[in-house]
Amino acid sequence: MTHQLWHYGAVVLCTVSLTILSGRLNVHAAGNLEAGKKLYETRCAVCHGPDGKAATPAAQALNPKPRDHTDGAYMNALSNEHLAKIIKEGGVAVGKSPLMPPQADLNAQQLEDVIAFVRSLAVPPYSGK
Ligand code: HEC
Repeated sequence: MTHQLWHYGAVVLCTVSLTILSGRLNVHAAGNLEAGKKLYETRCAVCHGPDGKAATPAAQALNPKPRDHTDGAYMNALSNEHLAKIIKEGGVAVGKSPLMPPQADLNAQQLEDVIAFVRSLAVPPYSGK
C-alpha cells in the first residue's frame, strides 16, 4: 500500500513537472510582440501600413493591394504555417502576388515574432494557438 502510494505520487509529480516544463517551452517558443512590432515597422509597414491596415497611399497604389492585417475575418482563417511561408518565401510561394516580397533572412525567432505581431492586429482577435 505504501509502495503503491509512492508510485502514484511519483507519476503525478512527473506529470506535473512535464506540464510545467512544456508550459515554459511554449512561452519560450512563442513570438515576442515588441520585437515583432519593430520588425513589422521596418519590413512590412512600407506596404501594409504601420497599423497593418494597408491604408497608406503607397499601399493603395499596389495591385493587388497588400492585405489589411486588421481584417480578422480574413486573417484569422490563415494558419501559422501559411503566414510563415508567405512571409519567408514571398507571395509567389503560396500562389499570391510577387508584390509580397520574400524575407528569407528572417530567422525562426524573428518569424515567430513578426507573426505574433500580425496576429495581435486582428479584429476580431485571433484566438488560435
Ligand atoms: C513591397 C510590399 C510588401 C511588403 C514589404 C510586405 N508585403 Fe505582405 N503583401 C503585399 C501584397 C501586395 C500582398 C497581397 C498579395 C496577394 O493578395 O496576392 C501581401 C499579402 C500579405 C499577407 C496575406 C497573405 C494571404 O494569404 O492573403 C500577409 C500575411 C502579409 N502580406 C504579411 C507581410 C509581412 C508580415 C510583411 C513583413 C515581414 C510583409 N507582408 C511585407 C505586399 C507587401
